[in-house]
Amino acid sequence: MPTITHDTDLVAQSLLDNEVAAIPTETVYGLAGNIFSEKAIRRIYEVKQRPLFNPLIVHIADVSQMEKVATTIPPLAKQLAEKFWPGPLTLLLPKKDTIPDIITAGKDTVAIRVPNHPVTLSLLQQLPFPLAAPSANPFSSISPTTAEHVAAYFKDEFPFILQGGPCKKGIESTIIGFNEDGAIIYRYGSLAIEEIEKITGPLQEYIRNEENPDAPGMLLRHYAPSTTTILSSDIEKSIAENAGKKIGLMLFDHTHTSDQAAVIETLSVSGSMEEAASNLYAAMHRLDHHQLDIIIAERFPDKGLGRSINDRLQRATHS
Ligand code: TXA
Ligand code: MG
Repeated sequence: MPTITHDTDLVAQSLLDNEVAAIPTETVYGLAGNIFSEKAIRRIYEVKQRPLFNPLIVHIADVSQMEKVATTIPPLAKQLAEKFWPGPLTLLLPKKDTIPDIITAGKDTVAIRVPNHPVTLSLLQQLPFPLAAPSANPFSSISPTTAEHVAAYFKDEFPFILQGGPCKKGIESTIIGFNEDGAIIYRYGSLAIEEIEKITGPLQEYIRNEENPDAPGMLLRHYAPSTTTILSSDIEKSIAENAGKKIGLMLFDHTHTSDQAAVIETLSVSGSMEEAASNLYAAMHRLDHHQLDIIIAERFPDKGLGRSINDRLQRATHS
């Protein structure tokens, strides 16, 4: 198992030595490497068993470093960066030639964000290079929101996990790209699109399908528990339909309860979507360890973070 440590200097040294390391962010834990180290970047893909066509996000220390990674920065992108960084927003921008193709999977855009976590911000400030980091889980499995989740996924594929506590936001960053008509949503995430649209106006929807896995966070089956999972708008009905099975329930708030379920995870008793988002993956991890026949997940209201939570639940339930 990789060692969980609080020692930022130790992890910085390991990254300087071309190793990969797991790092905390406000969204999920990332598996990080020096963007200019081919060895480290290849290792990230290898450890995650991630296909090489799926590009990585570049994490920078502050807004000013954007210009070192991107060639042109549309005014809208600049405004979004200034408003939401550090924070759970990733911007797709035309890449500089210095950014290796293996980071962007040969695309001419690069995904960039400034993560909002004090430990990782101080790590980025002491390193002479940005960090590429996908979520620190094996390809297609549930993203880790604690250092312990990361440790449970890996044996000794890399030396260190930097301890940063549980992730405050709990689902991945929102990904936004640009074209001549304005801004495009590529992935729903921890920053609600309503917040973004205050600056950009209505977002264009990125047309996605399995043949065009441009943002393969978009792959239909993703973030998946190994237990069969269904998404339900009518909890009582779904329970009745699965009578006799060992059921796990994943509920939004206090509205429902059931004596038919073996385990119940309530994501936010008070009905806060922010709290529900931050608990989502940890609850999925726990439910997945109960040897259940089925997980019935309650559909969220389709607005704000509810939309992002539904997006992840949809992918978790796609068979
Ligand atoms: O919150 C997050 O974004 C976390 C933390 C660690 O920062 N990272 C994360 O990385 O979720 P990952 O690799 O699991 O998801 C990144 C997504 C993928 O769906 C990838 O395809 C997309 O970003 N992506 C990266 N570069 C892209 C590009 N140039 N064009 C389109 N999509 C891109
Ligand atoms: Mg991921």
